[in-house]
Amino acid sequence: MDLVFDSKNARSLIGADAARRRILADRSPIEAALRGEAWNDGKLGWFSLAEGLSSPEFQKILDETACVRGMAETMIVIGIGGSNRGAMAAIRALHRSLKSPTRIVFAGDSLSGEELMEAVEIVKRESVVLNVIAKDFNTVEPGIGFRVLRKAMMEKYGSTYNERIVATGSRGPGQLFELAREQDWHFLDFPEAIGGRFSVLSAVGLFPMAVAGVDIAELAAGARAMESELKATELLSNPAVSYAVDRNILFSKGFAVESLVIFEPDLVPLARWWVQLFAETEGKTQNAIFPTYFSYSEDLHAVGQYVQQGTRCVAETFLKLFHENPDFVIEKSEPVGDGFDYLDGKPFDELNLAVYAAALEAHAKDGVPCLEIRCPRLDARRLGGLFYFFMFACYISANLLGVNPFNQDGVENYKRNMYRLLGKKVQG
Ligand code: PA5
Repeated sequence: MDLVFDSKNARSLIGADAARRRILADRSPIEAALRGEAWNDGKLGWFSLAEGLSSPEFQKILDETACVRGMAETMIVIGIGGSNRGAMAAIRALHRSLKSPTRIVFAGDSLSGEELMEAVEIVKRESVVLNVIAKDFNTVEPGIGFRVLRKAMMEKYGSTYNERIVATGSRGPGQLFELAREQDWHFLDFPEAIGGRFSVLSAVGLFPMAVAGVDIAELAAGARAMESELKATELLSNPAVSYAVDRNILFSKGFAVESLVIFEPDLVPLARWWVQLFAETEGKTQNAIFPTYFSYSEDLHAVGQYVQQGTRCVAETFLKLFHENPDFVIEKSEPVGDGFDYLDGKPFDELNLAVYAAALEAHAKDGVPCLEIRCPRLDARRLGGLFYFFMFACYISANLLGVNPFNQDGVENYKRNMYRLLGKKVQG
């Protein structure tokens, strides 16, 4: 496994043997999760990738991709939460190496009219395909975004607009499958057995990634390799188990916040995917750690101060994952004496590694528990592995907390208020 989990100073803060003892004490729920037997009520479709990415479905994603790339400068992906964050994460993380005739724009994840009007302008200006993604086709943000953009597509393309809609959705009454059949749109399955935030390795995430130029075969291969390794690694040396256990012990020691710390702005959407995964999966009990992210160096000049000297409630998980630009070397500044001569001739990448080491050392020294996840490089294969690693660890972690990882009833409260405020008739 080329992903390494390192407890850094956290183990000394929580007690060197605490994690081992907790793993042994909770052996049975952890092993149930490792076998995929916990909360096995129909939402574990992501757990065994060989089943989830069966070849006909994978081929269909590639066929739809070829079709979209042949007709569109831009594909607008309409979705929210688990329906769009995985694709956002991979596309932004890898975007510098991607080659595609079609760019991806995201819409339908806010109710800002201003933002939606910009997407409508894109439909008017460019050749466009819409990819609407919804598990339950009832969320207002993507639902109404799709309506507005669909109308713009009809006005532009007339009766052939339907060739430019790809719906990724569920089957069943009122779901996108039925609408797609009625309206003759293209259709990809949002697998029944996979919930939104665990859907990144299904058509939900893979199709927009493929259109953007991500090598989804490599990404899926990386995820599958991670799956086999995690499932074959015994309890006490399993990095996903260690990570899940450490974060739960940290919470019990008063560290109520876990921040995923990144050093590449291109990883911000990945960090947001991680936040959504852990927040919606675990945020159903008073005992769950609050997930957030810091984007350093920038956040070192903001929350960094609080982390260093504020209340000791924040634990950090440093993600050691970087772009590599070995040929980008700092040149001398002649004739301007700018005071940065000590950097002359250094590869720029060395600077980012230096700030990584400097922040970790400073925070750990002042008693901030720092965990570390190290990945050798940022490519599709490693990213696939990382997606799987976090979903697997999150599933174990939720099982330690005793919460159902796959529901999110709390989200319904704001939705119900929306329906009331906007006059939707709700049955029952
Ligand atoms: O992770 C989840 O299941 C949720 O975040 C959903 O993805 C999100 O609520 C969007 O759901 P839907 O696609 O049904 O509108």
